[in-house]
Amino acid sequence: MDTRNNVVWHHVTVTRERRELLNGHRAHAVWFTGFSGSGKSTLAHAVEEQLHGVGCRTFVFDGDNVRHGLCSELGFSIEDRSENIRRIAEMVRLFLDAGVIALCAFISPMRDDRQKVRAIVGADNFTEIHCDCSLEICEQRDVKGLYKKARTGLIKDYTGISSPYEAPERPALRLETDKEVLLDCVVKVVDMLRERGVVSETYFRS
Ligand code: ADX
Repeated sequence: MDTRNNVVWHHVTVTRERRELLNGHRAHAVWFTGFSGSGKSTLAHAVEEQLHGVGCRTFVFDGDNVRHGLCSELGFSIEDRSENIRRIAEMVRLFLDAGVIALCAFISPMRDDRQKVRAIVGADNFTEIHCDCSLEICEQRDVKGLYKKARTGLIKDYTGISSPYEAPERPALRLETDKEVLLDCVVKVVDMLRERGVVSETYFRS
């Protein structure tokens, strides 16, 4: 039964704007995309450390964690990935209402799906960052041993091996995570958030 017609959106009194005022920064979705092993989660957590250190409200979402709960029944077909990303986008939208800077690390291989995230959370609230690490390096790193399994056919639909990855055409930032050191990448992301008015200059004055 479709219950949507009988569900009325409850209007809040403590609004996103009031939360942002209290927090002293804007809510925002920072979206890291790239191959598995390209450093998305590492970078998201390192950026979070910086922001948390100056008193920002932050949260990191990443594929491996979300897929244990909210999206646990989804696999890695193009359709399932699409549904995975859609659910995450809706969840992130709620976190934006909660005033949080959401740092999201998902392969999110399809341009169209990332475009939908942008539409769901709102273009002004969305910064896309491409963790551009070559497949060769990701495969060499193979932190979880999954590339090896994908090569031998033990895992199917593996991004870069047996499933496509569409690189962003115009990301806000393209970081060569196989060449640049982590700290430089962190600085670039934080600078971008400053430029976009998510966090203010005063935050980082010591
Ligand atoms: S996405 O494509 O739907 O965005 P997501 O970021 O949630 O993927 O999950 C990716 C993580 O799932 C990878 O880091 C890897 O550890 C694991 N994984 C397991 N199977 C696959 C697969 N077939 N393709 C890619 N990643 C996989």
